[in-house]
Amino acid sequence: MATFPNVIQPDYRESLSKDHSLKGKWNEEFFRTEKPITVELGCGRGEYTVGLARQFPERHFVGADIKGARIFKGAKTALDENMSNVAFVRTHIEMINRFFGPDEISEIWLTFPDPQEKNRRRKKRLTGSRFLMLYRHFLKPSGYVNLKTDNALLFNYTFALVKENNFPVQAVTDNLYQSDIAGMTYHIRTYYEQMFLNEGKKIHYLKFSIPGHEEIREPEEF
Ligand SMILES: C[S@@+](CC[C@H](N)C(=O)[O-])C[C@H]1O[C@@H](n2cnc3c(N)ncnc32)[C@H](O)[C@@H]1O
Repeated sequence: MATFPNVIQPDYRESLSKDHSLKGKWNEEFFRTEKPITVELGCGRGEYTVGLARQFPERHFVGADIKGARIFKGAKTALDENMSNVAFVRTHIEMINRFFGPDEISEIWLTFPDPQEKNRRRKKRLTGSRFLMLYRHFLKPSGYVNLKTDNALLFNYTFALVKENNFPVQAVTDNLYQSDIAGMTYHIRTYYEQMFLNEGKKIHYLKFSIPGHEEIREPEEF
């Protein structure tokens, strides 16, 4: 994967101490055209990154995950299909604001993130206040966060957090494929989603914004 031009694999220690050189410059220096950028966090094999890039050539897409073997799959597909609007970053999401500058990102997808159900792991939830505060550094105030999950606890927790902070909600359903808004997720199914569907699980979907600058509050329950 080191030879893939569409994968950024920064050194861990470097990311700890300084911003990546592409921060704030993805359109200018990587994609070399000015288009809105969407990121998929915890992208795994990058089904949304690649799937959305196919459907929206007028936008740019960046998938981020820490697992190289998973990113490889999406990056290889994008290269095989000569997609110039796709990139992947191998990083811990905890360091994601080393890679994107203020207002650089228009939309975020969180596709089947690990639910981190145990209370002591709740700080690791990618929809928790700690992460949303990070995303705010680079997501436009008018931008959106999309959460797709099979996990009722993560869905209920995130929806409670959204309500607690009065964040605008664009869409919400606890049973996407029985709802009339399934089209909002563009008919893309990820690897994990397909596994959960095979097990007969319902898919939950929530789309919201995180405007403002004040601290994001955690919901009391969960
Ligand atoms: C359950 S998998 C879902 C993968 C893919 N989105 C899908 O739906 O098939 C969760 C993914 O998030 C990644 N992940 C979880 N926490 C992460 C973190 N803090 N930083 C980077 N990647 C993370 C894992 O490596 C894994 O690929």
